[in-house]
Amino acid sequence: MKVLGIETSCDETAASVVEDGSRLLSNVVASSMDLHVQYGGVVPEIAARSHIEVIMPVVQQALDEASCTWDDIDAIAVTYGAGLGGSLLIGVLTARTLAITYKKPLYAINHVEGHVYANFLTETSLPGYAMRAKQPEFPMLAIIVSGGHSQLVLFRDHFDYTLLGRTQDDAIGEAFDKVAKMLGLPYPGGPSVGKAALQGDAAAFPLPKAKVGKYDFSFSGPKTAVLRLAQAEIGEDYSFPSFKLAERLSEAQKANIAASFQRVAIETIVDKAKLAFEEFSPKSVVIAGGVAASPELRRQLTEALHLPIEYPDLKLCTDNGAMIATLGCFKVMHDQPVADPYALSIQPNLSM
Ligand code: KG4
Ligand code: ZN
Repeated sequence: MKVLGIETSCDETAASVVEDGSRLLSNVVASSMDLHVQYGGVVPEIAARSHIEVIMPVVQQALDEASCTWDDIDAIAVTYGAGLGGSLLIGVLTARTLAITYKKPLYAINHVEGHVYANFLTETSLPGYAMRAKQPEFPMLAIIVSGGHSQLVLFRDHFDYTLLGRTQDDAIGEAFDKVAKMLGLPYPGGPSVGKAALQGDAAAFPLPKAKVGKYDFSFSGPKTAVLRLAQAEIGEDYSFPSFKLAERLSEAQKANIAASFQRVAIETIVDKAKLAFEEFSPKSVVIAGGVAASPELRRQLTEALHLPIEYPDLKLCTDNGAMIATLGCFKVMHDQPVADPYALSIQPNLSM
């Protein structure tokens, strides 16, 4: 059974074909990132226009790379939330039109839940992918860390899960992106802060950890602390967003701030994950979302949980259509409700 997945919630236009929820047949991602870099973040209007331009070629390429025609496709899965309204609209309208035209069942996918399903892909003949050896077992603790979300979710089975906790303010990836901007490091912030941190001392500055609910997170405290710290270091209260702040910081100061922030942000996630791991004794722990690519997160988690954790390939951690197609496969296999191709609407604020 083959499902075509379509993902356009942010700045990636992505489509993929996945077979039986485990085999990756194609994975095409066209990013408009280059267009956003000069603004230090995603510009929604530019992202939406880019989706319109490339969505049909991306879908066709996903079919071609999977050596599929429309006859081979059993269902279409599309992200309908959460995400940027204009971006989601392009993917959803395209999927609706294709579902009607080719008479395929349509499945509406929650983007955040989709990220978790990148962990169920175990096989591919595509070059350059490091695949997981096996699918995770239930109960499964999912640590979801992306640009828009930070949450801990306990899955008892497919489609049977409890949200244990979430961020009370910024998502971790968003905090990385903002700290990068303060330090004059390029977007996206996760990788650039991580790179700068390699040259810095993570113990240079003690940043505060917020006191929130048992499994909840907060990243706005440490983020604001970074601003105060940078201001104190140069002895001038340039308020954000001023480029002057970054210009006045030395490379060593930037590296130390980046390392200190990264340590506390990642520790915040790992502390709570450890607590949930001890309370619920899950059979598997999975990491999902763009920040799953962070080597520091991987290092700290392995150390805290004493558990060999399998990660999806980096290309499956950031936004992609494969995770959407994979969850679509499980929806088909578990007789989940289909969406009405004449009526499916976007839900930019969808939560799990
Ligand atoms: O999941 P994703 O691709 O998009 C959302 O759904 O939000 O996540 C994007 C986020 C960005 O905030 C980016 O800074 C972060 O993932 N990210 C990383 C790394 N690669 C991407 N954070 C830390 N380390 C990385 N290597
Ligand atoms: Zn995402």
